[in-house]
Formats: sequence, structure tokens, C-alpha cells
Amino acid sequence: MVLSDYPHLLPAYRSHAAVDDAERIAWIRADRWLETARARAALARLEDLLSYPARDRMPCLLLYGDTRLGKTKIIRKFLRDHPACFDQGTGITSMPVVAMQMTAEPLERDVYGELLSALGAPGPMTDSTYRLKEVCRRLLRSMSVRMPIIDEIHAMLAGSFRQQRIFLNVLRFLANDLRVPLICAGTNLARQALLTDPQLAERFEAFHLDRWADNSQLSQLLTSLGGILPLRRPSDLATTAVRRKVLDLTDGVTVRIFRLMETVAVEAIRSGSECITVGSFDGDDLVLPLVTMTRHMEKGLQRRASR
Ligand SMILES: Nc1ncnc2c1ncn2[C@@H]1O[C@H](COP(=O)(O)OP(=O)(O)OP(=O)(O)O)[C@@H](O)[C@H]1O
Ligand SMILES: [Mg+2]
Repeated sequence: MVLSDYPHLLPAYRSHAAVDDAERIAWIRADRWLETARARAALARLEDLLSYPARDRMPCLLLYGDTRLGKTKIIRKFLRDHPACFDQGTGITSMPVVAMQMTAEPLERDVYGELLSALGAPGPMTDSTYRLKEVCRRLLRSMSVRMPIIDEIHAMLAGSFRQQRIFLNVLRFLANDLRVPLICAGTNLARQALLTDPQLAERFEAFHLDRWADNSQLSQLLTSLGGILPLRRPSDLATTAVRRKVLDLTDGVTVRIFRLMETVAVEAIRSGSECITVGSFDGDDLVLPLVTMTRHMEKGLQRRASR
């Protein structure tokens, strides 16, 4: 392969197009991070909060939106950008950002237990809740945690009213005592859950992750994918017709867009066409990758049948 081969791909990705089909298909299916416009904005907001000087009432952020739009992906990327670091001299590990998943039930001791695991210090869960909280407080300080993140915050709604109140107190503890910006992420229900506490609601700025629409952000996403998917011929992804098809099949949900594009790219390799065009989304043999995805045509048929 010479460097001028596959000029439709970004330079760093051209060599991927030269390898055999099985390897290219495996590459397409591998997990990856793609910086979308909205994800970039969310990361910039997190970055800004991380550099906020400590003060009594730190601003907090709620990252919310429909399921599978990429909230957890953004958090993981932010964590990778701010990894824990071990200081040989002091023997202390500092962890600027710590992220935990909300427990299935909002039980106070489970939440502290989860936080301790996220800090890399799973404690003896036989301790009293009070003690677990104290260990958390001490560790969060000694490890210089500047931003705790709790994902799937909407899970608190699975608890009883009393459990929910107690859990909101845990959030207050994290946001007030530690004087750090607390980040919560979850579905739209998470917002309602936080709003039930006026004091917390006052502190949280909301960052909404929208579904994709027919606009320049979607064009950018498709163009970026066109520049990295290892197909040997240039794809035709910058047209309104392609954007419409993609939105039609995915309802603008991020995970579905990624899976759909991967599916048509794999098909382009298997069929030998080596590029994605508007016709790629019409093939009878296009197996929609997720059960939540139905073809517009099928939806139309269902609608007609139900009349
Ligand atoms: N920026 C991205 N780059 C690459 N893939 C992404 C990106 N954002 C989302 N995805 C894909 O979408 C999937 C769903 O994303 P994620 O789990 O972050 O959604 P979520 O909003 O946290 O969903 P839930 O509300 O169900 O927890 C990911 O597993 C990944 O395949
Ligand atoms: Mg998630």
C-alpha cells in the first residue's frame, strides 16, 4: 500500500483498509470512542467544572437524556482523560475523578460501598453506615478527589420514599462537605428525581443530551464515520437522503446509529461493494442490529394493520 491509497480515509486509518476482510470486520465491530459535537460540549463542561476553585457551594452538573445516547461513554472518556496517578515519593494515589454506578437500590451503605470500590478500596461491608461514610470522606480527601461522578442516578427512584430522601442526603454530603462539583448522570427521570430536593435542584446545572436530528451535527458524525470505517471506496454519506434513512431507522438514538453504520459497513465488505450509499440502507438482507430498531416500512405496515 502507498500512502496515497484510500484518500477518502483519514491518514491514520488508511492502513486499516488494506488488511483482509475478516480483520476489517473485526475492527469495525470493536469498541471505540468517537468525539461527537454534543459529547465534546459535555466534556468541555466537565473540564471547566474540574478546574473550578473550591468554594462553599460548588456548582454541580446533571448530564441527562434518553437511554443509549452516550452518557456513560462520555463519563468513561472523561475518566480516561483524568486517570488516577500514583506518587512514588509519597506513596499516595491521587484520583482527580472518581466515577461510580448507582446501586440497584438507593441504600446508603451500598452507595458508600460502591464509592469505596470505585476508589479502589472495597471496605469490609460489615462496618456501620456511619463508619463507611467516614472512610469515604477520609479517602476522598486523601486521594484528592476533585470530582465524584454518579451514573444511573435515576435508579434512586426504585427506592421507597424514605430511601430516596436518605439518598438525596448522601448527594448533599458529597456536594457540600467535600466542596467539590458533584456530577450525576441518568435518564430524563433522573432530573425529576433531583428536582424533588429543592436545595439540590438549585445547585445542579442541567446538560441535556438530545437525540440526533437532521442537522450539521449528524452530517459531521456520518462524515467522521466515513473517514474511519475501513472501506476501500469512498462512501456517499453527506447527502440528505442518507441522513433521512439513518434517522428513520434509528429514531436518532446514538447506539442505533453506530450499530447501523457498522452493519452496513460490514455488508459493504461482504458484498464487495466497498462503500456505503443510500441504497445500502434499503437492502432486503439488511438485518437491523438491535431489537429496538424497526424499519420505517415495518412501522408503516404495523400502523396499517392496526387500523
Ligand atoms: N461517542 C461515542 N463513540 C462511540 N460509540 C458511542 C458513543 N456514544 C455512544 N456510543 C455507543 O452507544 C452505546 C450506548 O452508549 P452509553 O452506554 O454511553 O449510553 P447511555 O446514555 O449511558 O445509556 P443508558 O441511559 O442506558 O445508561 C455505547 O455502548 C456505544 O456503542
Ligand atoms: Mg449509561
